[in-house]
Amino acid sequence: MAKIKVVVTDYIEPNLDWEAEQFAQMGVDFSTFQLKNAPTVELIRAIADADVVIVNMAPINEDVLKGLKRTRLIIRHGVGYDNIDVLAASRYNIVVSYMPDYCMHEVAEQAVMLIMACQRKLNQQIRLTEESRQYGKWIFKPIYPVFSLHEKTLGIIGCGRIGSLVHSMMQNFGLKCTLICDPYLAEERRRSLNSPLLSLNEVLRESDIITVHTPLGPETYHLLDEPQFNMMKPTSILINTARGGIVNLETLNDALISGRPGFAGIDVYEHEPPTKDLAILDN
Ligand SMILES: NC(=O)c1ccc[n+]([C@@H]2O[C@H](COP(=O)([O-])OP(=O)(O)OC[C@H]3O[C@@H](n4cnc5c(N)ncnc54)[C@H](O)[C@@H]3O)[C@@H](O)[C@H]2O)c1
Repeated sequence: MAKIKVVVTDYIEPNLDWEAEQFAQMGVDFSTFQLKNAPTVELIRAIADADVVIVNMAPINEDVLKGLKRTRLIIRHGVGYDNIDVLAASRYNIVVSYMPDYCMHEVAEQAVMLIMACQRKLNQQIRLTEESRQYGKWIFKPIYPVFSLHEKTLGIIGCGRIGSLVHSMMQNFGLKCTLICDPYLAEERRRSLNSPLLSLNEVLRESDIITVHTPLGPETYHLLDEPQFNMMKPTSILINTARGGIVNLETLNDALISGRPGFAGIDVYEHEPPTKDLAILDN
């Protein structure tokens, strides 16, 4: 019987030696590539005769799917299907799955870290210390006002695995309340969170801190754009650790200059890494 062939298109780990050893013990033919940004033809060549494809960020679009001869399963090594054409895969009878708990604690911690960094103006504190060191005296004025999380309202847009972890991590900061926007929230999770479920506009208007944790798809592409920024409070903080395409960074730049929101903590970009001319990085 022919060996099962598993191919990894791209990965972020330093190496996949452990995985290679496990597959070798199982008699599986296992090969790995780094084809995240490779031309389609090269990607197809690498995975054309794979039974199982494991993919991190490489785009598995219809052109790639057409080139697969015997693939029955594509595993997304991460959360979200935004780099895989799942509908087309279904037409080719290929099952697509992902790893729901991949980096979920790390992303929630990243969101909390960015909330703290914006609220306590971490970047400005570092700059202030450096400048004060040079002048030999404290120069506090540029950093004022510095805000506290106490009595603030947190808004969570998308409260699935990561959003609800952020929810629970944030409950010891003495917040006034936590608001949730999630039209598809599972009933069991809604009951356990015990926070009001509101519309997107209500969460944007009421919250001091807004953190986004939805998937990226046609419904959420640029979910936060100019009209939504205009609804936010002047001193509010916007955090995005979900997917770059959910927040329009081009319009966010102008919004930050006009003060709504007041601060942004961005972990993900529509085009990665972000280009040099992305103005928001100058703020
Ligand atoms: N930055 C990273 O490295 C990284 C790593 C892992 C996951 N992520 C991203 O984090 C996000 C959340 O992941 P998760 O594991 O919590 O997913 P999840 O599926 O558990 O939760 C997503 C939640 O968003 C809700 N939702 C869907 N559409 C919505 C909409 N239009 N408005 C409001 N809520 C909506 C869903 O009902 C669900 O509760 C995903 O975009 C994922 O790709 C990023």
